[in-house]
Amino acid sequence: MSTVVSSEKIPNNVDLGSDKKLQRALEAWQPKFIDWWKEMGPEGFQADDVYLRTAVSVDSDGWAQYDFVKMPDYRWGIFLADPIADKKIGFGDFYGQDAWQSVPGEFRNVLRRLVVTQGDTEPASVEQQRLLGQTCPSLYDLRNLFQVNVEEGRHLWAMVYLLQSYFGRDGREEAEGLLERRSGNPDKPRILGAFNEPCKHWLSFFCFTYFTDRDGKYQLLALAESGFDPLARTTRFMLTEEAHHMFVGETGLGRVIERTCQLMKQNKNEDARAEGGIDLVTIQKFINFWFSVSLDLFGGEISSNAASYFASGLKGRAKEEKYEDHVALDGTFSMEVPIVEGGILKGLKKDDVPLRNAMNEVLREEYVQDSQRGLDKWNRILESNGIAFRFRLPSRRFHRASGIFAGLTFDPDGRPISREEFEAKKGEWLPTAADDAYVASLMQKPIYDPKQMANWIAAPARGIKGNPVDFEYVRHTA
Ligand SMILES: [Fe+2]
Ligand SMILES: [Fe+2]
Repeated sequence: MSTVVSSEKIPNNVDLGSDKKLQRALEAWQPKFIDWWKEMGPEGFQADDVYLRTAVSVDSDGWAQYDFVKMPDYRWGIFLADPIADKKIGFGDFYGQDAWQSVPGEFRNVLRRLVVTQGDTEPASVEQQRLLGQTCPSLYDLRNLFQVNVEEGRHLWAMVYLLQSYFGRDGREEAEGLLERRSGNPDKPRILGAFNEPCKHWLSFFCFTYFTDRDGKYQLLALAESGFDPLARTTRFMLTEEAHHMFVGETGLGRVIERTCQLMKQNKNEDARAEGGIDLVTIQKFINFWFSVSLDLFGGEISSNAASYFASGLKGRAKEEKYEDHVALDGTFSMEVPIVEGGILKGLKKDDVPLRNAMNEVLREEYVQDSQRGLDKWNRILESNGIAFRFRLPSRRFHRASGIFAGLTFDPDGRPISREEFEAKKGEWLPTAADDAYVASLMQKPIYDPKQMANWIAAPARGIKGNPVDFEYVRHTA
């Protein structure tokens, strides 16, 4: 079992003390990170004591220690899952060979790009969410938001550790760049589209943590298979934290839906908005939006990059061991592709794509199935309240901005439609500015009284770590 020296400036289980050069590089980066956190982290709560989970080691009782801490004093650290003896590369052209403990020269650039792209999403999400605390529905939710934020900060640390220890000077420059880009800033945007979309209110936050953090889960699962062992071990440990983020999204949306059902039942027209709640149609629109922008994060359906990541043993499939063929040179993957003639979408046809080129779609397929589970749960809430409405995931062709469906128009069932029809119906399928404004209007007044919960959301079934729901999870001094 790995040991931890948490008395050090940077808690870690990678024996940082024995690598003075790396330790100095990380200690030089640390104050810049704190400056970034104070500037771009949660605004208005930096002096508050927050009941947070902190990882102090990777074993079962060390990775989740709860205590009150001020966020800038959070002990961000570097934790890798314990090594597996005699680790082999599990897929691709180097299948069965020893896993790499240092960066193979020929894959240096592409591996660095993978680490930077993953790393960039972590601070981006903190930036997207930085104002949400000011409209929180309860102290319980406020604390969950901050828990997600500090852990995304730790995920940034995880990627910066890889950059600084394995990629030399380029890696140090990339580590600086991760603190310089800004979500939504047109001059220096974050790398991926969904991470430049503003998270304007808590309905978007819950959709983001359900759908976009789930993309994170699948990217991490694919990287956890990497033949570059330090990356695999880092991402394996990040997955334990990621699970909580999706819990926040799934239960958050579930509680919104539960409350909407209550409000519908107390109104003679079943009008949730008339009772100050969020109607089911609006919730469906936000599901459509965040699901579709998250699908884009998986990359092109037919991708030579994905094929070369797989061939090189850098990025595998989620839970690679469940597949029989780890080389994937012979198989094909069947998918629907658009027929476009003269720039006009004519229909769809089936295409058998060489399996390696379809690896993004293989991962996206698993993501779609996993996403459906939450909708099934939310639909059971509707059912148990005797409400006929059912949530549905839109087709993966709907509202796409990258890949083979980008720029083409489909309805939420995936049927090809004209651009005119899409434009005419878009307001029924995707949140309008008025929907955003309505949802935000419900949240203007934050709830800082531990005994209260905003009107638009039900209380959670239980509190955190055995504490009651009305525990003072954040000691907020206004
Ligand atoms: Fe993360
Ligand atoms: Fe996350």
